[in-house]
Amino acid sequence: MTPRHRPWETAADFQIGLRPIPLADWLEGGEADPAARKDPLFETVRGLVWAEAEGSRPAQAEAGELVDAALGPAPLRPDLPPLYAAARRTPDDLCLMEKDAAGQWRLTALSLSAGSFFTAEAVIGRSLGELHGPVTGFADRFLVRVQRVFEGLRPELALERRNWTVLNSDALHTPSSAPIRARLGEVTPRDAGQGLHLRVERQTLRRLPRTGGALFTIRVWLAPLGSLAAEPERLAAFAAAWRAATPELRAYKRFDLYDDLVESFLADPQPA
Ligand code: HEM
Repeated sequence: MTPRHRPWETAADFQIGLRPIPLADWLEGGEADPAARKDPLFETVRGLVWAEAEGSRPAQAEAGELVDAALGPAPLRPDLPPLYAAARRTPDDLCLMEKDAAGQWRLTALSLSAGSFFTAEAVIGRSLGELHGPVTGFADRFLVRVQRVFEGLRPELALERRNWTVLNSDALHTPSSAPIRARLGEVTPRDAGQGLHLRVERQTLRRLPRTGGALFTIRVWLAPLGSLAAEPERLAAFAAAWRAATPELRAYKRFDLYDDLVESFLADPQPA
């Protein structure tokens, strides 16, 4: 099956790409027991997957209320931070943003089971500008507009954006790129359809009306590259996107490392 989201079909460059979605579509679900995946990470590598700033509990609790409203009530877990108690109910990672006294939106708590090359302990407390420091051109092209989006969020509005990359890993929990890229040599041109994976992030943003915070969600969807082989039009759209990606996007996502394998797959697309 081709992936549920195919953002490469609509953009060859970095983009803000936020669009309103019905509130009913906010959380996509589809994972039977997210806690079974998240709890072991929370217990064993907590600093990678969980962080909270002092004073964030009221907004964490409000974020939990949004999740309860979407999924139905759950037994209380006073033993857990409220944002983590909510995050273990949904496949999505949950990131809480709050405006500080100087007017900067900052990350004040996050549950990050499927981080794409970053960790909770590294990003807690960062402003929107600091979070996106590694993204080429973000400060010049996007920062002011994204800050305005945060200011303009309304309670009845849910926004969605998506991004994508290709990776030689089918793991959701990928705090660091180095161990994954070190194994790239294990993928041969013949098995690129199985060894390479499309990694799509579907992100959403909502206002927390009472505390004034904002809840940013990240859901990672994975599919082998070979899943495109059965659908020629989808395959052609991916090939076009791969080849049209801007130099900045290619450099940021290290497409250079994957070029030969992806082109081998496109020349002889073997199903996964
Ligand atoms: C809703 C407005 C936002 C927009 C438009 C946005 C945009 C972007 C873009 C364009 C990238 C580069 C990869 C991609 O194409 O997605 C990116 C990366 C990233 N974003 Fe955002 N973002 C937003 C909100 C957030 C929030 C609230 C967080 C807080 C966790 C965040 C954390 C990150 C991180 C950690 C990266 C990776 C940076 C790295 O390479 O180290 N973003 N974002």
